[in-house]
Amino acid sequence: MRLLVCGGAGFIGSNFVRGRLRGGEDSIVVLDKLTYAGRRENLQDLEAEPRFSFVHGAIEDPPAVAAAIEGADALVNFAAETHVDRSITEPDAFVRTHALGTFVLLEAARERGVRYLQVSTDEVYGSIEEGSFTESSLLDPSSPYSATKAGADLLVSSYHQTYGLQTLICRGSNNYGPYQYPEKLIPLMVLNALAGDRLPVYGDGMNVRNWLFVEDFVSAIGHVLDHGVPGETYNVGGPDECPNIVVVRRILELCGRDESLISYVTDRPGHDRRYSLGSEKVRALGWSAATRFEQGLERTVDWYRDNAWWWEPIRSGAYRDYYQRQYGLSLDR
Ligand code: NAD
Ligand code: TYD
Repeated sequence: MRLLVCGGAGFIGSNFVRGRLRGGEDSIVVLDKLTYAGRRENLQDLEAEPRFSFVHGAIEDPPAVAAAIEGADALVNFAAETHVDRSITEPDAFVRTHALGTFVLLEAARERGVRYLQVSTDEVYGSIEEGSFTESSLLDPSSPYSATKAGADLLVSSYHQTYGLQTLICRGSNNYGPYQYPEKLIPLMVLNALAGDRLPVYGDGMNVRNWLFVEDFVSAIGHVLDHGVPGETYNVGGPDECPNIVVVRRILELCGRDESLISYVTDRPGHDRRYSLGSEKVRALGWSAATRFEQGLERTVDWYRDNAWWWEPIRSGAYRDYYQRQYGLSLDR
């Protein structure tokens, strides 16, 4: 299959591209704007592969999309602004990329009859105290990030209903694993623990997330792309849930540090208490998660420990200013 993968230079997109190129016959064009979170380094090991090519451009730019989609059988859209904290301080880019960008991609897919898969998030359902969300749960997003992702999902569904475009939506729970930018909980805590810097925990540390190893999410996305029913949405939840403070303590243990590095900091506004996603529908389609949280977290810590070439340029650049603004703390090392 000839795939256009938008946002393929980010965390999950690059893992998806790597998995598809190694596992099959696909040829892949990546279209990516290379925001702070998108990096060619994420695809470095694939550059020499003849079935892979890269186009630098934005999904909200129709000529860039028209050039990149030429000859594609399917489009998978990972391109997004993805950090809730940044959506609170600077929501503009979230609206541009999720609303306008998704619209431009849908139009290009509709004109050419290209199958379309939108990568989305459990955050569109909001917080849940008990039980798990299903695909028919109400959308009740809390942040500019999740609200604009929910809007994009609705637009995608409308292109199936209105124009008969073959659309699919995959909503994942919190991902972790190699190549994740260290603004998200797990890579941030791992790098700080390795360096001996403080670990900033929001609120009481008892917010719960449903952890999904990135290799499992990308295998689910590939499975839905190949076998999903057009017009349908598939939730992909991880096998384990865990309060943040338990995750942080385990990371400290794996890095050989003690709990004196933990700093409780001011909570995030509108902080969702718990996410939980049922995966029955995608399991019925033949997918299941292969990695439990304990094992995936160990693999993730090992990857960051062994790949300083990947994160050192991030941690020594503009990231330090972002960190200072966000937490009022500085990175010592
Ligand atoms: P990421 O921030 O690591 O990567 C996003 C990528 O999109 C980057 O390469 C960036 O350069 C690119 N991009 C951003 N705006 C663009 C634009 N306008 N045009 C072209 N490219 C653009 O994000 P991620 O964690 O890999 O997330 C990928 C997708 O998965 C997102 O849609 C996100 O909502 C969804 N998702 C993420 C998680 C998670 O835990 N990280 C969980 C569920 C769903
Ligand atoms: P995050 O990785 O930002 O993902 P999301 O908010 O999209 O679920 O955060 C995961 C959880 O960790 C969330 O409850 C917020 C919390 N958190 C901290 O306590 N400290 C931090 O520095 C970060 C980035 C997150």
